[in-house]
Amino acid sequence: MSRLKELRKYVDAEINKMEDHDKRTSAIAHLYGVSLAATMIAKKRGLDPEIASMAAMLHDLHAYKTGSYEDHAHKGADLARAILGELKLTGDAETDMICSAIYHHDDKMAVDSPMDEVLKDADVIHHCMNDLSKQIKDKEQARFDKICEEFGM
Ligand SMILES: [Fe+2]
Ligand SMILES: [Fe+2]
Repeated sequence: MSRLKELRKYVDAEINKMEDHDKRTSAIAHLYGVSLAATMIAKKRGLDPEIASMAAMLHDLHAYKTGSYEDHAHKGADLARAILGELKLTGDAETDMICSAIYHHDDKMAVDSPMDEVLKDADVIHHCMNDLSKQIKDKEQARFDKICEEFGM
C-alpha cells in the first residue's frame, strides 16, 4: 500500500467518527478535493506531490475532530506531527514540511515557503471552485486570481 493510501485510511477512519452525516460528507469532499488540487499544484511547481497531498489530507483534521476552527491550523500541525510520528510514513524533513504547511495554511494573506503556499493555494481552489456559484471570500480573492493566472484559467 502506498503511504498516501495508508494515511488516507487513517484519516477516513477519523472522519468516520463524526456523527453528523452532512459534515462528514463535506469533510471528506474537502480533504480529498484539496489533496487533488495540492497534487496538481506541487507537480506544476516542481515540488513533491505526495508530500503536498499528505499535508492536504491532514490539514483540517483538528477542526473536524474537535468541531472548532479556533486556531485549527496551529493545533492541526501538532496533531499532524503526532499522527505522522505514530504512522511512521515520513522522514523527519518530510514531517517538518507537512507540519509547516498545515501550521501556515490559514495565513492566506502572507507568503510562506513553497510547500506552505501549495497547501494554501489548494485550500483556496477547493473553497472557490467546489461550487462556482458561491461568493469568493475577500481574503481569498487575490490568491484565487493569482492561481487562475498561473493555470491559465
Ligand atoms: Fe483550514
Ligand atoms: Fe481547508
